[in-house]
Amino acid sequence: MVRNVAELLPELEAEDFYLLSGVEQGMRFSEWVQREKLPKFADLTEEEVDYRLERCLKRGLIEKKTIQYEGYTLQFEGYDALALRALVERETIGEFGAPLGVGKESDVYEVRSYKPLALKYHREGYTNFREVHKERDYASDKEHVSWMYTARKAAEREYDILESLYPDVSVPRPIDHNRHAIVMEKMDGVELSRTKLEDHQVLDVLDLLLAEIERAYEAGYVHADMSEYNVFVDESGVTIFDWPQAVPTDHENADEFLERDVGNALGYFRRKYPQQVPDDISSDEMAAAIQDESIGSVTDFA
Ligand SMILES: Nc1ncnc2c1ncn2[C@@H]1O[C@H](COP(=O)(O)OP(=O)(O)OP(=O)(O)O)[C@@H](O)[C@H]1O
Ligand SMILES: [Mg+2]
Repeated sequence: MVRNVAELLPELEAEDFYLLSGVEQGMRFSEWVQREKLPKFADLTEEEVDYRLERCLKRGLIEKKTIQYEGYTLQFEGYDALALRALVERETIGEFGAPLGVGKESDVYEVRSYKPLALKYHREGYTNFREVHKERDYASDKEHVSWMYTARKAAEREYDILESLYPDVSVPRPIDHNRHAIVMEKMDGVELSRTKLEDHQVLDVLDLLLAEIERAYEAGYVHADMSEYNVFVDESGVTIFDWPQAVPTDHENADEFLERDVGNALGYFRRKYPQQVPDDISSDEMAAAIQDESIGSVTDFA
């Protein structure tokens, strides 16, 4: 698990960030950045570099290795610190709050500015990165720092998709992004998986969810990871989140993904509320209705 760097921020100085961003720049060329290249990348004197390296090493923001040369690389914590600092500097974030969700592909924290927001650090590539790390010699490999690239690309993707869906589709409002981090509005409510709906609410909530899937389709996207864990429910309706893997509707597998998404949504409701959800509904017919933009109500399919 990646440690929360928010509490380190107050003790870090501007030069520590010069050093971190110097290491980040060097990592465009090789995973382990040579010590002797750092003064130039970081725009710091030799003495400053030594002093800052020690401070950043001590705090687990970078890692040191002596193979053929003395080299340094960013830890995910160092990359987090760079992103967080950038978001604080441009006043997207004021206070840092409690974790909202810590998973294998992301860490989400509450943050605040004028209102409660959510900060999602993407971690795609993190799980493989330790493994891959051991086996390959990256010194001459341009694709070397795949975790950094993969996480940043996923964040950019998710941010772009949220921007194109909001506000036509009920998704968290995107606020800002930097590197592998995105800031969005904090959703009210709870995950669908943790909701126990009243009998009379079940079909209404399922209808609302299908309507959002249809709106997203109209806006050009299929979520492609629909589940009770990626939907929030509150009094005002449903919100679909977690979009980095979404595919455009002209993607060659978009129809399959749509059928699977609808099947997942329907399957979940059917398992949890068998009394309320008719079992002769075909999710393929529902997916076809979404493509025709005529989804209406689930009861029309019974
Ligand atoms: N905008 C938000 N407002 C409130 N909570 C959020 C928000 N975004 C994410 N969360 C919380 O963080 C959790 C993880 O977010 P998300 O599903 O986007 O990431 P993930 O990559 O699926 O993570 P995991 O690997 O755990 O599945 C969510 O289940 C939710 O509880
Ligand atoms: Mg999720």
